[in-house]
Amino acid sequence: MWSPIYLVFALCSEVRAVWPAPQSFTSGNSVLWIERDVRVTYNGESVWWNSFLDASNSQTEQKVLGSQNSQAPGHGAFTSSSVVQSAVSRALQTIFTQSLVPWKLVARNELAKFEPLANGVRNFISCLNITQTGTDTTFKPLAGEVDESYNLSISEQGIAEISAVSSYGVLHGLQTFVQLFYQHSTNRGIYTNMAPVSIIDGPKFQHRGLNMDVSRNWYPKADILRTIDALSWNKFNRLHLHMTDSQSWPMDIPALPLLAQKGAYQIGLSYSPADIEEIQTYAVQRGVEVIIEFDMPGHTTAIGLGYPELIAAFDAHPWRTYCAEPPCGTLQLNNSATAPFMETLFGDVLPRIAPYSSYFHTGGDEVNAQAYLLDPTVRSNDKTVIGHLIQKLVDRNHAQIRAAGLAPIVWEEMLLDWNLTLGEDVIVQTWLSDASVASVTAAGHKALAGNYNFWYLDCGKGEWLNFGNGASFQENYPFLDYCSPTKNWRLIYSYDPLGGVPVAQHHLVLGGEVHIWSEQTDPVNFDGVVWPRASAAGEVLWSGRQDARGQNRSQLTAAPRLAEMRERMVNREVRAGPVQMVFCTQHNATECSV
Ligand SMILES: *[C@@H]1O[C@H](CO)[C@@H](O)[C@H](O)[C@H]1NC(C)=O
Ligand SMILES: *[C@@H]1O[C@H](CO)[C@@H](O)[C@H](O)[C@H]1NC(C)=O
Ligand SMILES: *[C@@H]1O[C@H](CO)[C@@H](O)[C@H](O)[C@H]1NC(C)=O
Ligand SMILES: *[C@@H]1O[C@H](CO)[C@@H](O)[C@H](O)[C@H]1NC(C)=O
Ligand SMILES: *[C@@H]1O[C@H](CO)[C@@H](O)[C@H](O)[C@H]1NC(C)=O
Ligand SMILES: *[C@@H]1O[C@H](CO)[C@@H](O)[C@H](O)[C@H]1NC(C)=O
Repeated sequence: MWSPIYLVFALCSEVRAVWPAPQSFTSGNSVLWIERDVRVTYNGESVWWNSFLDASNSQTEQKVLGSQNSQAPGHGAFTSSSVVQSAVSRALQTIFTQSLVPWKLVARNELAKFEPLANGVRNFISCLNITQTGTDTTFKPLAGEVDESYNLSISEQGIAEISAVSSYGVLHGLQTFVQLFYQHSTNRGIYTNMAPVSIIDGPKFQHRGLNMDVSRNWYPKADILRTIDALSWNKFNRLHLHMTDSQSWPMDIPALPLLAQKGAYQIGLSYSPADIEEIQTYAVQRGVEVIIEFDMPGHTTAIGLGYPELIAAFDAHPWRTYCAEPPCGTLQLNNSATAPFMETLFGDVLPRIAPYSSYFHTGGDEVNAQAYLLDPTVRSNDKTVIGHLIQKLVDRNHAQIRAAGLAPIVWEEMLLDWNLTLGEDVIVQTWLSDASVASVTAAGHKALAGNYNFWYLDCGKGEWLNFGNGASFQENYPFLDYCSPTKNWRLIYSYDPLGGVPVAQHHLVLGGEVHIWSEQTDPVNFDGVVWPRASAAGEVLWSGRQDARGQNRSQLTAAPRLAEMRERMVNREVRAGPVQMVFCTQHNATECSV
């Protein structure tokens, strides 16, 4: 049946599976099965991934790896082969124990209609040969410091190959490999129906992140680790933890114990140094770099619970005058105790996180000038006066961050509202508009995109403030939040981080982040709020808003792939929300399109 001519026809360049879309993907229609005896090599050496299989979940596997590596994953002791070996074991574990019988191949009332014959002659994948052509020089890269590209092929004869310059590329190639396989609904075997496969792939943007607010609500460590897994499946490479805010300080700082003792929501609801190290090392092994943010000088009320002398306008009312969200509180900027406090704070944290991250985010959004009328060390709302004091704070903090070998990140207001002079190494994270991205790059700075009108996952839930039965009830009815409506995956997918930025400055847009602020999100609904919408941003950041022909990527071809990716995520215990009805997935895209 497979005449060579038929085969040429069968090869198609439409991306039939895989999220985010590879830059180039050709595939055929041949079926190849894969079994546990598949031989895996890495640079010619066998990878004994089966010995990892006893570990039934990723956290146990982490322990297995830790005990194998007698130096413990701590202190930056990663090797390419240990990172690749555990990634291979996770990938094959997923293929053999969490594979998917996808809705798209299961016709209504005719289970195996689109599946290969359960009892036909089977051809197998005999080996997966992984070649890394370069040497890893870092496991905490700055943007652009590692080549994350990879090539992947599966021949009709059953030879699978992944090649990449870095282990990061190998990890991405393995994520793609996993997505080529399905489970058969009746014989439970694992197969791909896309052979031969040829993929050439690499990221459009260097910084592909999720900003996760762990201050407004408390998240146990397990939720963060699960999120890191899901990020890696979607080829994100950054997890930005918005660690602290006015509402709580959930991170232990041994040198300043009152921060968490008084500032966490409850004793024990804080991340210990060991928790932070585990989160960071777990992420490194998955190609994700954790970036911690201490937001300041605004959004710092929680510091005042332990160190009241440092905070101005603490719980000031009416709050709308003094802050964006209650409880108000802002760092005292001309208090002689502030600088030593910062010295101690960063002196504690930076050496602990520096082995696993090259960035520290010092915040800087929504600083309220009126609050400085209530600062006994300033007593002014003059933005020039306040701006000079913020400059001193930021200069001091950034110098300490640089001295620890890290690069600072700030929110856009530091540059665009307060006109601070920032070092060339500083990344400016925008959120307010596309014009902000353009302003940042026009000033010659590196920018992150993430316009709240597109990439804020918290929007559209309605107000979290309560309104009494008086005038405020009428004025605020029907209680929409400031950034409603909900940003559905289609809107998120339509966003171009380069929109509005002149071509000559595109290189300064390192990428972007999709954001989940946690006023109305906690571990109970987190997965469904974030996924699969963050996946839509993930494809924009990895594949680009436009395809290889320069056309905007289409929802028509994205929807079936995203629906399949969502099925895979649910299969892997991330409770992502549905993309569409099963009806749309079982039928071709035409049925659910206009
Ligand atoms: C796969 O790698 C092994 C080990 O280097 C080698 O013996 C084998 O020939 C390779 N297979 C192919 C098809 O390249
Ligand atoms: C991937 O394939 C492209 C095109 O053939 C080639 O230029 C590139 O060197 C390959 N990359 C690796 C890491 O093998
Ligand atoms: C800062 O405090 C010093 C000493 O308390 C005072 O002399 C100075 O005017 C203050 N600066 C500002 C900008 O308020
Ligand atoms: C910063 O510069 C902008 C544009 O020139 C100006 O509107 C704003 O008032 C300045 N802010 C401060 C604090 O000086
Ligand atoms: C492509 O998408 C961008 C937004 O990302 C939009 O501004 C533009 O109009 C679209 N182009 C076409 C041809 O639809
Ligand atoms: C897709 O569905 C439409 C509407 O039911 C139908 O007309 C079309 O033939 C289908 N296309 C394919 C390729 O099955």
